[in-house]
Amino acid sequence: MVSRIIPVDPFNLVIFGGTGDLARRKIIPALFRRYCAGQFHSKSHIVGAARSDLTIESYRRLIEASLREHAPKRAQDEEALKEFLSRLDYVSLDAKGTAGWNDLVDRVGGTRTEPGQDDRVSVFYFSVGPDLFGPLAERLHRFGLAGADTRIVVEKPFGRDLESARALNVTLAAHFDESQIYRIDHYLGKETVQNLMAVRFGNMLFEPLWNSQYVDHIQITVAETVGVSGREEYYDAAGAMRDMIQNHLMQLLCLIAMEPPAKFDPDAVRDEKLKVIRALDPVMPHHIVRGQFEACLDPERAHPSYRGSVNQPRSTTESYIALRTHISNWRWAGTPFYLRTGKRLKARSSVINVIFKDAPHSIFGEEAGRHANLLSIRLQPNEGITLKVTIKEPGPGGMRLVDVPLDMTFAEALGPSGEDPPDAYERLMMDVIRGNQTLFMRGDEVEAAWSWTDPIIAGWTSRGDVPKPYVSGSAGPIDADLLMQRDGREWRGITP
Ligand code: BG6
Repeated sequence: MVSRIIPVDPFNLVIFGGTGDLARRKIIPALFRRYCAGQFHSKSHIVGAARSDLTIESYRRLIEASLREHAPKRAQDEEALKEFLSRLDYVSLDAKGTAGWNDLVDRVGGTRTEPGQDDRVSVFYFSVGPDLFGPLAERLHRFGLAGADTRIVVEKPFGRDLESARALNVTLAAHFDESQIYRIDHYLGKETVQNLMAVRFGNMLFEPLWNSQYVDHIQITVAETVGVSGREEYYDAAGAMRDMIQNHLMQLLCLIAMEPPAKFDPDAVRDEKLKVIRALDPVMPHHIVRGQFEACLDPERAHPSYRGSVNQPRSTTESYIALRTHISNWRWAGTPFYLRTGKRLKARSSVINVIFKDAPHSIFGEEAGRHANLLSIRLQPNEGITLKVTIKEPGPGGMRLVDVPLDMTFAEALGPSGEDPPDAYERLMMDVIRGNQTLFMRGDEVEAAWSWTDPIIAGWTSRGDVPKPYVSGSAGPIDADLLMQRDGREWRGITP
């Protein structure tokens, strides 16, 4: 199936941190793909801004290499590549000083207050560390670059605890209205994450069963095979809790557990997500397992241990975490939610498993065994949904039951499109231009997520808890299995 393209109006987009890893790997390739798809007009203007003293030509060469690496299929269209690059601009600028700012004003066609400025949307992407958010926001106003229609995009990590997140919110609020601030959690831009809402609220089938009366428990797994190379310093100061649970897994939990919003509009959706976060119970110490991966000696995929990777022989930062939490509200009282994520696990696999309760009475007797339905939502890779149903085992030998999957892989069901699946940033960037905040986090949502996370981290810090080692390429530490077994349950396997 070919997706429908609704073009956006021409815009000005300035990417602060325009030479950085995120801009080169994600943001600009996403824009390039949307450009090739015909989603925006060539009148739109994209400016990279960074400290490096580059000429426009050398910036374009840098980006060309990135596009060839990160959007290789599209970049084979030499004509499109040339056209896109010819529209890229570059300004060397000091985010904390004044150098380069007047130049930027010229490149975007003057200040927002000057006569003759068209009313195109202007977006400033802060692809920089949070320490620069304040200086950039202040200068956008000082140099007349910000108007009522200006939008700013900020990346995670949005703080490292409640206090720092609040401080960032206060800083941004001093210069911009909440409706102008787009806090990215790229998981919300993933097709299948949005599909969670479509599946839940577009079908009559699931919603009546979506509560503690019918659901035994829910497992959310985001397993990665990659390590932490290239971001050692950041990661060792963050760990899996801050890097993944506080944001990505929290968002998945919200979408799975929230009440149906009255409509699919930004505040209606975000209000419901916020209610979930605020209803989360504190996590008991015996409901958390933290781990660190061990070295891998297999010559084909050899790598050092977590501590070796970050070059901190005594690091107590977790590269894996599993925990059990509860949502204290009418819908979910009594249903545990198990969350786990980790690096260097056996497969890259993000899945949400909704495990339903056993039928209240088995008419087939004890020997038929236990057969609970399971709804498995695969977010990546191999996106799709599987519903495990119980049927009679074929054959004349009596009434034996067996579980079979009703499987729908989206790529097969929707037919070949000839296109790569869109990257999360493609959707999110176009939403910023359209002015749709539904898939972006609101300030109060981020603060609520930190309010839940902070005491958990404070708890293990004060206990002097040390993460458990786990075999690289495994499903994580044994203790994570015990966490489930104590509850009479087990994790679903991690498979690609
Ligand atoms: C990032 C985390 O936000 O998400 C990384 O900082 C993680 O540590 C990445 O690897 C996972 O994203 P994806 O899209 O590859 O699942």
